[in-house]
Amino acid sequence: MTSPRIKAVIPAAGLGTRFLPATKAMPKEMLPVVDKPAIQYVVEEAVGAGIDDILIILGRNKNNISNHFDSVPELENTLRGKGDHEKLARVQASTELADIHFVRQGEPKGLGHAVLRAKNHVGDATFAVLLGDDLIDERDPLLTTMIAENARTGLTVIALMEVDPEHIHLYGVAEVEPTDNPDVVRVKGLVEKPKREDAPSNYAVIGRYVLTPQVFDILARTAPGKGGEIQLTDALQELAVTDGVLGVVFHGRRYDTGDKVDYIKAIVQLASDREDLGPALRPWLQEFAAQL
Ligand code: UTP
Repeated sequence: MTSPRIKAVIPAAGLGTRFLPATKAMPKEMLPVVDKPAIQYVVEEAVGAGIDDILIILGRNKNNISNHFDSVPELENTLRGKGDHEKLARVQASTELADIHFVRQGEPKGLGHAVLRAKNHVGDATFAVLLGDDLIDERDPLLTTMIAENARTGLTVIALMEVDPEHIHLYGVAEVEPTDNPDVVRVKGLVEKPKREDAPSNYAVIGRYVLTPQVFDILARTAPGKGGEIQLTDALQELAVTDGVLGVVFHGRRYDTGDKVDYIKAIVQLASDREDLGPALRPWLQEFAAQL
């Protein structure tokens, strides 16, 4: 099936307070995961799903992110002069990935507010949102399935993952109904960060969305919700009871790099799987684990 070309939006304007002081002068999306900033993996994922137009929503410390996706002639000339083509290719990779645009959020008034900043760039079209601190392992496809599901039904599609009830209060949580496809559910309602006893299910919303442009009108009139922020979850709740929302259930590897423990797990997992680093790291990891 051929899916329509869509744009991607990557919100990266949060304060990242859980990572202070590392995020005092640097967005959390720029924290390195092995040797690339988290947001580069996210951009690569969008490109891997066939998207070539990406809008990044910037907050304070905006230059860090835009510089990363820009060329650095001085560094590139030095590497070229040294004949170090391998490092040169690594430097240039982030510049050549896609057509990357930027817009400021101004004030971090919530994820819903950040997404609304994409309205002019996206226009009246379906688009994907990928959270800049949420990594989906490239070996476990998700976005392509979501885009195909949207193309099939015309509906908004969100990504869901079953989480331990102990952690459910950290997420937006969906009330769901099964469909004919075991990996796709109909979302009947959504609640942002409920108490464990109030959670309608164990299906947590994770950072991938394929949104229809109706979401912009809803966000424009969505009042601040949980935490005083304009919540994307609240707008999706409205869409769930009007147009309809589907959830693709993800069973693969996902790392929330905005959380310290998950961030460390991402680095260990990705490094130990890599051909250039794994052979040196894995024996040490085994030895280390044996001592625990
Ligand atoms: P989080 O709630 O995880 O980000 O937002 P945060 O507020 O920066 O994190 P902590 O809790 O203070 O550590 C999820 C995503 O939405 C973006 C963030 O950058 C992140 O990618 N976001 C959040 C915005 O772009 N703008 C906002 O106003 C809020």
